[in-house]
Amino acid sequence: MGDMDGKVALVSAASKGLGRASAMAMARRGAKLALCSRKPDEIAAAAREIAEETGVETWHCAADVGKAEDIQRFVDGAVGHFGGADVLVSNAGGPPPGNFPDFNEADWQSAFELSVMSAVRLVRAVLPHMKTRGGGRILFILSSSVREPIDFLLLSNVMRPAVAGLSKSLSRELAGDNILVNVVAPGTILTDRVRQNRRHFAEKNNISYEEAVDRAAQNIPLGRLGDPGEFGAMVAFLASPEASYITGGFFSVDGGRLKGL
Ligand SMILES: NC(=O)c1ccc[n+]([C@@H]2O[C@H](COP(=O)([O-])OP(=O)(O)OC[C@H]3O[C@@H](n4cnc5c(N)ncnc54)[C@H](OP(=O)(O)O)[C@@H]3O)[C@@H](O)[C@H]2O)c1
Repeated sequence: MGDMDGKVALVSAASKGLGRASAMAMARRGAKLALCSRKPDEIAAAAREIAEETGVETWHCAADVGKAEDIQRFVDGAVGHFGGADVLVSNAGGPPPGNFPDFNEADWQSAFELSVMSAVRLVRAVLPHMKTRGGGRILFILSSSVREPIDFLLLSNVMRPAVAGLSKSLSRELAGDNILVNVVAPGTILTDRVRQNRRHFAEKNNISYEEAVDRAAQNIPLGRLGDPGEFGAMVAFLASPEASYITGGFFSVDGGRLKGL
């Protein structure tokens, strides 16, 4: 028994990393889960493993959040299965790294579809169902780049602040409907994406993987990278009844990395 018993939480990009950890943390609080990611086998395995470990009911489908029709199919399928939606965790793969000369018109458009329109479309699809339920929670997984641009991640630096603006605006528009909207911003959390990034860094600089991870930890006051479970805990708290007076917020999970007040 948990404080999210009976709640239905939709999590996109949930087969691995931050999405999966968020789903797992909500399942531990009792929420039923609807999950999607692009690879059918991986999302099926994640849904099965979370169900086995926590005992909650899970539903899943393969969907690419860069595509409008896939998002509608995910939300329609989840609501069709569970009969409603209480929580949306909007997550997507990151846009490709690079600097300004690296990107053409098509790259900008596809980053916009993946990072901004995925969030817009997920919200648009779930909102009527949350209103029917008399309330809900929307959480956007973004990045510390919203507050402090990260070198060589230009598309992320440009696209994610748009979603932070969406979050703040929605928090005001939807407060009267008892729908609470917040951003959760990871610093550097040790997921597959970050492991891969560290392996590339190690090869490029002719150092070991361990050394590459240590270097990433150097500018983090807590002295280490985060664990996905530490990130998921924040998402689950904001999705839970305990967080009933928190909306329009921006919550960093970054070991103290951002310096701004
Ligand atoms: N980890 C960090 O420290 C960190 C820091 C800042 C920002 N972020 C951002 O947080 C998000 C999640 O990162 P992560 O570290 O958890 O990455 P990850 O470990 O690589 O996991 C990414 C997940 O997203 C799914 N996915 C990727 N593209 C998708 C798409 N178009 N449609 C549906 N699902 C998709 C993947 O599954 P499939 O391959 O099956 O689709 C996988 O489940 C990314 O946007 C990343 O840029 C992460």
